[in-house]
Amino acid sequence: MRIRRFGVTLLGTIALAACSAASDRGEDLMSGSAHPDKWPEAASPAAFTDPATEAAIDDLLAKMTLEQKVGQLVQADISFITPADLEKYPLGSILAGGNGGPNGNERASAADWARMVAQFREISLRPAANGVAIPIIFGIDAVHGHSNIPGATLFPHNIGLGAAHDPELLRRIGAVTAAEVAGSGIDWTFAPTLAVPQDLRWGRSYEGYSSDPAIVAEYSTAMVDGIQGRLEAGRPLAADKVAATAKHFLADGGTRGGQDQGDAQISEEDLVAIHDAGYPPAIDAGVLTVMASFSSWNGAKNHGNKSLLTDVLKDRMGFKGFVVGDWNAHGQVPGCTPTDCPQALMAGLDLYMAPDSWKALFENLVAEAKAGKIPQERIDDAVRRILRVKFKLGLMGPAKVDRTDPSVVGAPEHLALAREAVAKSLVLLKNEGSVLPVKAGAKVLVAGPGADNMAMQAGGWTISWQGVDVTKADFPNGQTVGEGIVDAVKEAGGTARLSADGFFGEKPDVAIVIYGETPYAEFQGDVAYLDYQPGNATDLALIKKLKAQGIPVVSVFLSGRPLFVGPEMAASDAFVAAWLPGSQGAGVADVLVAGKDGKTARQFAGTLSFDWPAGCEPGAKALFSRGFGGTYATAPKVPELATKCALENANKGDTISLYSRGLKAGVTAGAEGTAMPNFVGKANGLAVTAFDVAAQEDSRRLTWSAPATLALTWKAQELPASEAVEFRYRVATAPTKKVTLAAPSGSPIDLTQTFAIAAGKEWRTLQIPLTCLAKGQLGEVQVRSEGSFVLELQSVTLVSKPLNTSCTGPF
Ligand code: BGC
Ligand code: BGC
Repeated sequence: MRIRRFGVTLLGTIALAACSAASDRGEDLMSGSAHPDKWPEAASPAAFTDPATEAAIDDLLAKMTLEQKVGQLVQADISFITPADLEKYPLGSILAGGNGGPNGNERASAADWARMVAQFREISLRPAANGVAIPIIFGIDAVHGHSNIPGATLFPHNIGLGAAHDPELLRRIGAVTAAEVAGSGIDWTFAPTLAVPQDLRWGRSYEGYSSDPAIVAEYSTAMVDGIQGRLEAGRPLAADKVAATAKHFLADGGTRGGQDQGDAQISEEDLVAIHDAGYPPAIDAGVLTVMASFSSWNGAKNHGNKSLLTDVLKDRMGFKGFVVGDWNAHGQVPGCTPTDCPQALMAGLDLYMAPDSWKALFENLVAEAKAGKIPQERIDDAVRRILRVKFKLGLMGPAKVDRTDPSVVGAPEHLALAREAVAKSLVLLKNEGSVLPVKAGAKVLVAGPGADNMAMQAGGWTISWQGVDVTKADFPNGQTVGEGIVDAVKEAGGTARLSADGFFGEKPDVAIVIYGETPYAEFQGDVAYLDYQPGNATDLALIKKLKAQGIPVVSVFLSGRPLFVGPEMAASDAFVAAWLPGSQGAGVADVLVAGKDGKTARQFAGTLSFDWPAGCEPGAKALFSRGFGGTYATAPKVPELATKCALENANKGDTISLYSRGLKAGVTAGAEGTAMPNFVGKANGLAVTAFDVAAQEDSRRLTWSAPATLALTWKAQELPASEAVEFRYRVATAPTKKVTLAAPSGSPIDLTQTFAIAAGKEWRTLQIPLTCLAKGQLGEVQVRSEGSFVLELQSVTLVSKPLNTSCTGPF
């Protein structure tokens, strides 16, 4: 049995700018240290810190033990803690990460979620010996609706909402999302993202509303209002409201090259003017929490940056809630590990997100506090901020608010709002010959890989972190974009055929081809350049085939960002940017398909909230600028289109990454039913699981229990004789039988001894020249073990100029 990696193509690793402009601009710029007087003033509402609440917190602080206080500062993930653990460790918070679900079930119902939260909460409410009982606060990423739960209302991802330019719509979406989160027993969403993405190569571009700080600022107020409502002194939020999170502070969207978790090398002025834009409005609106960013500013990790977290955010901008960390991100502060990092608390972090590291982190913090390494005042201040939020959520009693009502999840009026949002997010970029709207009575072909694909239209952060395994069964109350079009065409008296590959019987009057990006989240979505389908233009081929038969083609493009689509746009008669619309695909037909009366249910209203690039290279000119969007009344004028990506051959770099940061290069995941899309799963004799080394799930643990082969595949090609395949690996358990590395038809190289020696030791690098494996074309290498063996892989790379040139070892 073998586990095969799917669809790997060769992509060069991101070409890192050799030297940044910032480094030439002097010391001050590079220090990553803020001057608070250069920042705007803001203030959490007085209703957040009313005297009665503060006095109640004083009383509690006077009673709490050190362990109880430190417990409030640590958050664990449901995949790594049980309710019973709370009997021993008085943690104050639990989260469900993108890959978690009640009892490990990704597809649990809202009622199951509510039951699970209640179990944790019940234990946290049992009074300790000193009478103290502080309920947990439970958080989740409801980032485009309550997106972890099947059947919940899925809204378009933020990039689509940005195109809608409609703050009132945002307020309503926030309210619906909060009602569904509260309805499933959860108190807190890690949203909205207030990033102002500047480089679309960033894998989280779609989580941002716009590259325009003004739009982000306006949406910030609307979304916080929608999720939380307005704060009132001495009173908890309404039962259908939850705590919001302004994230990720700061400049997550400003990193060099759009690298996730990277470094924003920019001046303090730009930091304030661009990336901070959403925060003062969120604070003024009463946002209860702020999440620190994984990223750095001029070399300083935000989780350790006191000038930003304390001097700017808390002092200058008057934020009175708590600062939560990101997923083990404190471990990236110099001198820290995920389990030990007093530096972050001292910098101003209040709640550590310590998904799997919480236990040792808790113990270390207690010991450090006892040893006087952390002042009592800092601990008390952090606990106070966390308790304030718990009071505002009505968790502290006496009249504890019960928000649970699973029946609101996916309510019909919520779905209707999502459909409206989809329609409002669409941007018309081309409409030659007025091929749109589709006329009543037309014969329509609906084609393309995205035509009937819930995963592609939902994107990342849906059911699971990467969202690649989403199917239509997850959203029975939704419909794919193609289904929505077919229904609308039939309703208008026409005929429609849904066929992903574009086959048809009778020649259609028009073809709507739906295609675009496959799902990704966070750094797994980072790309080296902005070409759509480099070297593998299957969608372009489909469009051209239809055009060759005299059929007008409408492209509906599903994507988390504007991409260079010159060839596709040139070949199409009409082109609609539909972003990642979520589960209510019918919203697309509402704008594209005319009814019997000749009118569409809705008009085009969306305009770009980012520039659309004219080329694929970083810094390419805009083909359409922010604010552009056509309507049926004013057809868009399409500028001359480049039909080639100048960087198409940029993948001929020195280093080719086959596997790194949890990602296979060029993976084509997301087609419905794809097995092991993320290179995790089980086959006879071999199980592959993900775990964290330097970033979330960036590494894979391969556990052999019987003879089995792991195949790493890429697009076969002639490789220079000087190349080698390089493994960054660690051996957790020594091989019990023979282990080999081979090309499919070559003779195997015995690595048993190499791995036996490495057993139990630290990470190592292994290089095998490709000439030792095969001659000529190569597209695959195989690791085979004949017996039980546990190997951990952080990366697999093809490198030129290897240090090792021998084929006989020792390796
Ligand atoms: C979290 C990510 C995490 C991933 C993999 C998700 O739940 O949101 O931050 O990296 O799971 O562990
Ligand atoms: C992400 C956050 C998210 C957190 C919890 C992290 O990986 O960066 O945006 O809220 O995980 O899932």
